[in-house]
Amino acid sequence: MRVIVAKDYDEMSKRAGSIVKDRLAKKPNLVLGLATGSTPVGLYKELIRLHKEEGLSFKDVVTFNLDEYCGLSHDHPQSYHYFMKENLFKDIDIKPENTHIPEGLSKNVEEFCRKYEEEIKKCGGIDLQVLGIGGDGHIAFNEPGSSLSSRTRVKTLDEGTIKDNARFFEREEDVPKIAITMGIGTIMEAKEHLLLINGKNKAEAAAKAIEGPITSQITASVLQNHPKTIAILDEEAASLLERSDYYKFTEEQSGEIS
Ligand code: PGA
Repeated sequence: MRVIVAKDYDEMSKRAGSIVKDRLAKKPNLVLGLATGSTPVGLYKELIRLHKEEGLSFKDVVTFNLDEYCGLSHDHPQSYHYFMKENLFKDIDIKPENTHIPEGLSKNVEEFCRKYEEEIKKCGGIDLQVLGIGGDGHIAFNEPGSSLSSRTRVKTLDEGTIKDNARFFEREEDVPKIAITMGIGTIMEAKEHLLLINGKNKAEAAAKAIEGPITSQITASVLQNHPKTIAILDEEAASLLERSDYYKFTEEQSGEIS
């Protein structure tokens, strides 16, 4: 895993933006895996800036989102459909038909999940997957104990995740308890990962995911088994990493390569 320690959230987001820009330059019809939550908002702002100021085009890009709450309509302000429209899609030139987000209102969830996986394969697989991490070390909604070979399916949210996400809802009781999420097996098939971690409250999860043992109890740790993961952390999130100096030294040697 390549670990980049950025000065702050802003720098983390800009570094992530330049990586997406680089991959898009190499493949204009990039298949991009997207995440929601507060972590990637800065990256999405940067992508919008790159689109508006530098002409970065998403017209041939195909996207797949990691997850969606069950039971929320697309126009519910806390649904991930709404989040993606508001935080990215409405401000770039992506074609709506090229965007994919799990359907939280699906009547036949099993069938939906099977088709979602099929659609990813039909598009040639995900080239670059953007990931955040939960306080419990989850990626997408793969909570501790998730099978490391799981596929897209319904998952029950962990109590800690419900509490974490309650900040977006009026009351904790309003947080949906189940969600459709890509599985760890699905995520691991992406060709490359961009893991973003910021803030002190993520420092412990970051250290366990990056330097701890690979375990289903910290599902992000499975990324250690992936041949191409770039983790970008701000100083606060990196504060419990034991090998920070080495990561910084490595980046000094490699310069600005992305
Ligand atoms: P956050 O969520 O970006 O809102 O912290 C990340 C996650 O739970 O995966």
